[in-house]
Amino acid sequence: NAENQQLSYVYPRVFNNPERDLFMIGTFPEDFLWGVATSSYQIEGSGDVHGFSGKGDSIWDTFTHRPGNVYNNENGDIACDSYNKWHEDIEMLEYLGVQVYRFSISWPRIMPDGTLSVVNEAGIAYYNRLINALLEAGITPVVTLYHWDLPQALHDKYGGWMDEQIIRDFNSYARLCFERFGDRVKTWITINEPWVITQLGYGSGAHAPGIADDGFTTYIVAHNLIKAHAKVWHTYDDEFRHNQQGRIGITLNSDWVEAADPFVANRMLQFSIGWFAHPIYVNGDYPEVMKTVILEKSRIQGMNDSSRLPEFTSVESEFIRGTSDFFGLNHYTTVYATEMPDDADATPGWEQDVNLDKWYRHNWPGSASPWLKAVPWGMRRMLEWIKMEYNDPKIFITENGYSTSDANELINDQNRMNYIMAYVDEVLKAIELDQVNVIGYCAWSLMDNFEWAAGYSERFGLYYVDFNDEDRPRYKKESAIFYSQLVHNNGFVN
Ligand code: NOJ
Repeated sequence: NAENQQLSYVYPRVFNNPERDLFMIGTFPEDFLWGVATSSYQIEGSGDVHGFSGKGDSIWDTFTHRPGNVYNNENGDIACDSYNKWHEDIEMLEYLGVQVYRFSISWPRIMPDGTLSVVNEAGIAYYNRLINALLEAGITPVVTLYHWDLPQALHDKYGGWMDEQIIRDFNSYARLCFERFGDRVKTWITINEPWVITQLGYGSGAHAPGIADDGFTTYIVAHNLIKAHAKVWHTYDDEFRHNQQGRIGITLNSDWVEAADPFVANRMLQFSIGWFAHPIYVNGDYPEVMKTVILEKSRIQGMNDSSRLPEFTSVESEFIRGTSDFFGLNHYTTVYATEMPDDADATPGWEQDVNLDKWYRHNWPGSASPWLKAVPWGMRRMLEWIKMEYNDPKIFITENGYSTSDANELINDQNRMNYIMAYVDEVLKAIELDQVNVIGYCAWSLMDNFEWAAGYSERFGLYYVDFNDEDRPRYKKESAIFYSQLVHNNGFVN
């Protein structure tokens, strides 16, 4: 159509990076999955503003209502109001022409106190409507079970992820989802970005539940996240796979780490993505370098021969190894690392002894998010590293995207188009030139939404949402037009 022609793009030399390779023209494998992603707390709204939804509070409801935690004290009470406006979400997805839509289920929406004692049928009905409408539109749902909105009741009861009782409760929740939705949902993601959960939720405290680390907590939380993930994978595998014929995996996030010394880069990657990927994809245990470094530091801190890093029993290791049918990856940016002198007093939980203060070395272009620099070639290196490290898994890129601020690029978002174009091109190179097995790509996000501690100040959407209007109208950005062309062409054509 005319709109599309007008934007018909010339492939530019998008970023001024010395490392940048030439742009590659070409198409993706025929069965490649194009999609967009969102999550429940970031878009739904409680549903309680004009009625009663039956939803219980999550730790994010509590956290956002405590002053000082979020930019401008904003919250997700209404967010994009997708609880009421899901049909508009579907229309937007149809325009984009995507094959998949990745969204998450809100645990407290369907289990208000986190357990089976009450099942909120209104919440179940909401997801049924959404899933059915997606299928009618020919769009495949990809469903995340845990995208950070833990039922507050479970945090109050035993500390949520800090206690291993969470494993049993997460498993009951997952089983309910498989029972109620698994006839139609065939791709499941257990947990979104466990590293971020540990570091921000229980490390710096910048995310809910806002706990500050004491040197033990992040490791305990990670331990429980990994065991809970494995438990749910086995539940699917034992009880549902045979009838439902779906697949289930986990989504890990990782920045690419660039360093003069590859040993430093590798150590940092092992402390972030490897922390979760090594147990799940390699041998049911943490990376060697993590075990050695943390044991050594624990010793210096007077813990004799015990480590602050918990251990898996051999039975647990056996149970964890191999529990993912694909490798879900969220990738946005690259950091530059340098060696820091070994220091026993280093911040607990930040024991990889690297400095990140040289991020700007290459004048990497920024975004509205302080942590997000556009470094497209980092995507290709990240993908190749995962291929080598984890024995060539099927990689599903479950998130990648770029933020703009209220001050610029509301609709004419050239920087977002450039970013997506360049990053997707590096995915193409990874597939074509490095034979990396990438099965799909989801842009973050379908529309502007609640960006956690940054509130509504960082916009990631292909659609603009007006948060000042109580109707939350959505407007197509130019990147949405661009993305629909990319999807339609299945890549970059001349
Ligand atoms: C990762 C998270 O999964 C998502 O919730 C967040 O909005 C984006 N990255 C952007 O920060």
